[in-house]
Amino acid sequence: MKTNGTVGFGFVGLGWPGMMHARAAAALPGTCAAASCDLGAERRAAFAAEFSPDHTYEEYDDLLADPAVDAVVISLPNFLHASATLAALRAGKHVLCEKPPTMNVSEIEAVQREATERGLIYAFSRQSRFCSKMLAARKLVAEGALGTVYFARAERVRSRGIPVGVGGWFLEKAKSGGGAMIDIGVHALDAVWYLAGCPRPVAVSAQVTQHFRHTLPEGTKYDVEDGGYATIRFEGGMVMHLEVSWAANVTHAIPKSHWTGHELEDTTLYGDRATLRLNPPTLYTMDGMERVETPLATGPETNAFETQMANFLGAVRTGTPPVSNVGQAVSLMKMLMAIYESSAAGQEIRLVG
Ligand SMILES: NC(=O)c1ccc[n+]([C@@H]2O[C@H](COP(=O)([O-])OP(=O)(O)OC[C@H]3O[C@@H](n4cnc5c(N)ncnc54)[C@H](O)[C@@H]3O)[C@@H](O)[C@H]2O)c1
Repeated sequence: MKTNGTVGFGFVGLGWPGMMHARAAAALPGTCAAASCDLGAERRAAFAAEFSPDHTYEEYDDLLADPAVDAVVISLPNFLHASATLAALRAGKHVLCEKPPTMNVSEIEAVQREATERGLIYAFSRQSRFCSKMLAARKLVAEGALGTVYFARAERVRSRGIPVGVGGWFLEKAKSGGGAMIDIGVHALDAVWYLAGCPRPVAVSAQVTQHFRHTLPEGTKYDVEDGGYATIRFEGGMVMHLEVSWAANVTHAIPKSHWTGHELEDTTLYGDRATLRLNPPTLYTMDGMERVETPLATGPETNAFETQMANFLGAVRTGTPPVSNVGQAVSLMKMLMAIYESSAAGQEIRLVG
């Protein structure tokens, strides 16, 4: 960190999320784009045109050796999350890494050890935790407005939204760690889990499936799932149903998003006092036999990437844990891996006792 408190950022991986994080950092006082890095010349040039970083690199090891970089934002393909995060921590840099945190549990446990031993901040990117409806809903649940939450439903279902990534890495298990579940299931699962206060997962029963190869060009290497369905039981009794798909023949008037076709993104938590649904943000109660809908007061829409970056920056400056911390990253990876394990074994996987 410079003597005037400015935090120098290094951005590694300059696709859409990398650019969003850079815009978020640029909007906050006391930050500078010290360096950027990508293998792709076009992406390096587009980044340089918008942010004029002090240095531009092709190899992330070179960026990590740059003393002007205090904190690294990693938006690389999944198979590089662990190695780049560990290398950054070993170079003494704080890290904000894209989701999924890593590709398996042992990798994130290594990250946890390294960050803890070195006293560095590690956060994983979950910008949805920072959007205004999530902030309002989280406060409401924490205040006990739902009573005891006993069931939750997490849905992320696209009609046609199989991502490819540079070189097709999303579709290859060795490079992605999995398909729809690790890619967008992590968003759906985390939305419920975070709202419920991150309870300890107890057991997972799941099935992942692949049915939409026919929507891809012939010959595409494709060894990951395009759908996943899980039941997760938590300490305290909450049960979560998780439904995730990159491609499905959707049934009802789900809105269209810009490239995925129709996309359902929904989060519902049932409590003994009230039920909460995020889309649209509403609290549901009963007055006798009549359903009562109370829209959530969410306040003005904020830029979730910016609020997330402000939280990360605050953590770097003060040494306090970020909202999306490394212990939670370990639990998330345990749940995701148990989903794949349960599917392969055809049985429930216990995570405790
Ligand atoms: N938070 C979100 O909403 C969100 C959205 C999309 C993607 N993501 C995550 O962000 C990450 C990147 O996804 P993407 O869609 O930008 O993928 P992408 O394939 O479009 O971009 C990855 C970039 O990394 C670069 N790269 C690859 N290897 C490199 C290396 N060794 N050194 C330097 N640069 C290298 C590539 O050239 C490419 O520009 C993934 O982990 C993905 O899961 C998150």
